[in-house]
Amino acid sequence: MLPLPTSTTPAPTGNPFLLTGTTAITAPESLTAVALLLQAALRPATGLELPLRTEGSICLEIDDALAEEGYRLVVDADSVRLTGGSAAGVFRSVQTLLQLLPADIHRRAAVEGASRAVAPVTIEDTPRFGWRGAMLDVVRHFLPKHDVLRFIDLMALHKLNTLHLHLTDDQGWRVEILRYPRLTEVGAWRRETQVGADPASPSDGRPHGGYYTQADIREIVAYAAARFITVVPEIETPGHAQAAIAAYPELGVSGEPMEVFTRWGINPTVLNAEDATVQFFRNVLEEVMDLFPAPFIGVGGDECPREQWKADPRTQERMAELGLKEEADIQSWFIGRLEETVTARGRRVFGWDEILEGDLSTDAVVASWRGMAGARAAIARGNDVVACPDDQVYLDYRQSEDPGEPIPVAIPLTVSDVYAFAPVPEGLTEAEERHVLGGQANIWTEHMDSPRTIDYFAFPRLCAVAEVLWSGPGGAYDDFADRLQDHLPRLDALGVEYRRESGPLPWQQRPGVPGRPASREEREAHIAELVATITS
Ligand code: ACM
Repeated sequence: MLPLPTSTTPAPTGNPFLLTGTTAITAPESLTAVALLLQAALRPATGLELPLRTEGSICLEIDDALAEEGYRLVVDADSVRLTGGSAAGVFRSVQTLLQLLPADIHRRAAVEGASRAVAPVTIEDTPRFGWRGAMLDVVRHFLPKHDVLRFIDLMALHKLNTLHLHLTDDQGWRVEILRYPRLTEVGAWRRETQVGADPASPSDGRPHGGYYTQADIREIVAYAAARFITVVPEIETPGHAQAAIAAYPELGVSGEPMEVFTRWGINPTVLNAEDATVQFFRNVLEEVMDLFPAPFIGVGGDECPREQWKADPRTQERMAELGLKEEADIQSWFIGRLEETVTARGRRVFGWDEILEGDLSTDAVVASWRGMAGARAAIARGNDVVACPDDQVYLDYRQSEDPGEPIPVAIPLTVSDVYAFAPVPEGLTEAEERHVLGGQANIWTEHMDSPRTIDYFAFPRLCAVAEVLWSGPGGAYDDFADRLQDHLPRLDALGVEYRRESGPLPWQQRPGVPGRPASREEREAHIAELVATITS
């Protein structure tokens, strides 16, 4: 099973439970939606109807004594009991039940001769962390709605519960905002795309883009919610915003027209520090908060170069007006203004660890990405943290030392490297540990131009992240690796094009497209320089 449950006790004797033509599901009204998802999961491969009845042998129920997402699953010859601390816990137990059946249960048409037997067992299970996430960058390459929904299904399979959607950046704006239609009319499209990670890499000369309408977003959010997955939106500010500036040039420092960025890397183009620009993003966030009920709202904050602010007389004037001493203060001023809008709606700001470079309310949640320095600094300041250190869980990083890895960037992160993910820094008190809400894997898509490529980079490494976040860090890798061998047939049945242990299949390679690999030493030196301002 994967992620590994807290305890699994097979019954020493007893016949298995058999799914048959007379098997029915029983659930109280509060669990009807979960019961229907269980039914929908079991029907195609078994060809069984599995109706909802008052006296079914598969029983769903809630026991308030269990942790919210925790559950108990008891199988004997006559019944399957799925008991959760809440509907979310029952839903997680459904995923476990599916793992007690052959991998073919995930096929979408009847499988002749497949076993429908579940061996008697008692499983008790509770997640280690409340934030078990994945970030999808749907900007660098647009991920069609259909594939976002499919990714949500794959998250649910792995008991992940938080989808962080990176919706805006230099290279595109992917969420419809009714008040500012040009954000998607103009900002959702770029003329062409850099192919390769080398700054000198050529562009493909092919337009790219796409966006989610507000109806699409509502569908994604509701689809995720039905699977007890929260979608945390992110609107990037005050850097990584060239697509917005292309749509509305008055948001930029120069005010000059520019196109949606077609290159990768850190872009000097940033937002200006006018009140009107802050108000623009406040208005955007109001619509975003109407669409996303998440308790956390991402405002970005990473990689904001200061050169444009330094060189611009009007920005210098604004700094004097606002009493800001350094350009770095503009960034925390900007984030602080957006936080007022977010907290006014009872939500919390979620930002990359650069938001620690200035004043920050202790209500803000910090995504520690430049290693764990941000996590340590945030915890020391009393902020909650989501651990997503690049050197542990950046799933865009190359998967091995093999030069045949497609567009290999940064350091190698193998499945076993990722399984060593430690979301909680060492040496914390218990109270400090509680500031670690959990962690997430980040999937940046500069070099993932299709859902198939996302499969290759995400899986099976995301399986390892999911286990660390559900079962807790420090698990035995060999045991995980054995269970992964049993898990991969599920991914096969679902059509997930994961990376084989032997390396990329021929069509997963990108011969001739340059990457930008680094050694661990190079990466550590680079990150140490970057985080100097937050550790001091
Ligand atoms: C990041 O990877 N720039 C958050």
